[in-house]
Amino acid sequence: MFILSSVKKFLPHFHLYPHSGRLNDPNGLCYFNHRFHIFYQSNPFSTLRKKTYWGHYSTKDFVNYQFHGLAISPNTKYDRDGAYSGSAIVNKNKLYLFYTGNVKHKGNYDYVLTGRESNTMRVESTDGIHFTNKKVIFTNKDYPSNLSLHVRDPYVFKMNKNFYMVLGARTKDNHGAYLLYKSKDLTHFKLIKNYKSKDLGYMFECPSVFTLAHKKIFSFSPQGLKAEKNRFKNIYSSGYIVNRINKNNYHEWDLGYDFYAPQIFIDHKGRRILIGWAGLEGYSYSYLEEKEGWKHCLTLPRELTFKNNKIYQQPIKEITNLYQKFKKVKAYIGTNFIANFKVKKDTEVTISNSLIIKFNTNKMSTHFKCNGANRVNREYKINIHEVSIILDNSICEIYLNKGEYVFTSRIYAPHSGIKIKGSNATIGAIKSASYK
Ligand code: FRU
Repeated sequence: MFILSSVKKFLPHFHLYPHSGRLNDPNGLCYFNHRFHIFYQSNPFSTLRKKTYWGHYSTKDFVNYQFHGLAISPNTKYDRDGAYSGSAIVNKNKLYLFYTGNVKHKGNYDYVLTGRESNTMRVESTDGIHFTNKKVIFTNKDYPSNLSLHVRDPYVFKMNKNFYMVLGARTKDNHGAYLLYKSKDLTHFKLIKNYKSKDLGYMFECPSVFTLAHKKIFSFSPQGLKAEKNRFKNIYSSGYIVNRINKNNYHEWDLGYDFYAPQIFIDHKGRRILIGWAGLEGYSYSYLEEKEGWKHCLTLPRELTFKNNKIYQQPIKEITNLYQKFKKVKAYIGTNFIANFKVKKDTEVTISNSLIIKFNTNKMSTHFKCNGANRVNREYKINIHEVSIILDNSICEIYLNKGEYVFTSRIYAPHSGIKIKGSNATIGAIKSASYK
């Protein structure tokens, strides 16, 4: 089933990708039995979403990865059309995965108010690899009656000795919403909040809740935000809120063309780590990798810190440890590197002869030579003083001001490299990770 086709030219070297078929959201991020576990929405048989499974990687160090195949398959009447997104929680030496069992009835339905089931499901494991005891926690009848049939992506977390579950939802009158439940035993959950937003789109997907610097953070992926000058330029957005939930308090996680549905987890050292899906629904430019039998990858794991009333993101140190010697150069040919420079005057960067980015101290603009296919020019009015560009073959992550802003995009080009005009850059190669 998981056969690597012979030529896979666009595969990343230190980002996670599907062994075959499709990957979308990261799921079930956790640390269990001395390993990090990274699950993801997978369709190993096709690059289309269709029916999703949970694929599974684990690692001790984010450098050597082990691939475990499929952790959850949609094989019951409660999840037969997809084991949709969800999260992991460890309790009493067991790892529990919560996810949404997606069911779509055949017929003439709108799949919003009719024809769909979103069941909250749970599986468990003692070794972190084999999952059993599939259990239905909720069916649609159990959710409040103001909600449509779109209720999904359970995120379970522990706070002050209690467990909580947050679910993203769409109300019947098309507002983004979430449900918050409390539990003592991870089996019985009591609804404690049914929240409906006013100005944040029609659906909340993929919520995460965590504390950072003693602040409660709500991360989610709202659908239905209209594009504004400096934000919401992608078809769907992902962001976080520190205070009251409204559009003014909403910060986007990433400014790039390809980013959605991140999940955050707290590791055994207390680090808040975010991993996102470096992709989005409905874009057609990835046909080049689809020809190679795979589609999409995850972002680097990013550690979150709280500064100046905002969340900063930086690749975790296991990744920065992969950086090799830096050299002062203006151009570099290669597939794995990081380029760093300070922005004091106008600087033009060309990545893989394909994406041109102009930086100055109060603006960043982007232009894809292969324009079209959702690669329209962009301009962000933001203050910029420092830039780090990481290229891993077909995926590029740009960290501005040490992670105050991040920009993630896929780039499909015949030759990888970078040219920098205007500023002096230091460039270092990055070692590849290993995938078994
Ligand atoms: C986000 C999402 C989730 C859903 C999953 C299905 O990309 O739509 O809401 O659970 O993908 O693959």
